[in-house]
Amino acid sequence: MNFDTPITIALSKGRIFQQTLPLLAHAGIEALDDPESSRKLILETNHPAVKLLIVRATDVPTYVQWGAADVGVAGKDVLIEHGSEGLYEPLDLRIARCRLMVAGVPGADLAGNQLRIATKYVTAARRHFAAKGQQVEVIKLYGSMELAPLVGLSDLIVDLVESGNTLKANGLVPLEHIMEISSRLVVNKASWKMKHASVTGLLDRLREAVESRAEQEQRKSG
Ligand code: PRP
Repeated sequence: MNFDTPITIALSKGRIFQQTLPLLAHAGIEALDDPESSRKLILETNHPAVKLLIVRATDVPTYVQWGAADVGVAGKDVLIEHGSEGLYEPLDLRIARCRLMVAGVPGADLAGNQLRIATKYVTAARRHFAAKGQQVEVIKLYGSMELAPLVGLSDLIVDLVESGNTLKANGLVPLEHIMEISSRLVVNKASWKMKHASVTGLLDRLREAVESRAEQEQRKSG
């Protein structure tokens, strides 16, 4: 595919980078460096006009919102906390999948009022308990949420669960499913207009890659 206008793509290293690479490859984009071994934050690609910005996962929507990146790849968890101002979210990339859950010690009371909930996902947690008509106190943490119920900081936590191993290792159990999480393509609203051909061209190729992978998965399981 031809990129006649410069395009910058913000994404975080680790799981999201690794799982986005094959999707970008379908659009003919290959990174010339690996962020795991290089300390560069701007990665060149085989297209001189296409650059990858390596940022913290929670910062991806900020870079895209302000137009410092035209597009980005961010988890739905991150997008809920950030809000959607200045962003379009046109495609579920179906990568980095996990679940947002309420967890606690086995048998923990889920129904009470004034429960204390420790979480990094304050907005999602507030919405979840408000929808159930429960008043809770949400305590913001930045990581290691599993510790909070063990030392009396909170009654419950709201956290991402993939294998469940982290909960298990700390004697906690998943208690309530909030939502399925996956990474989304986000696009700066001005870039969507000003760089329409390049952005929609990239979007179409990524959509094809996502759909062909979903078909492969279905064939394997069916
Ligand atoms: C996430 C999440 C849990 C863990 C769940 O943390 O916060 O701690 O993964 O995975 P599991 O169910 O497979 O054990 P992550 O490693 O993304 O780092 P974080 O603590 O910085 O969020």
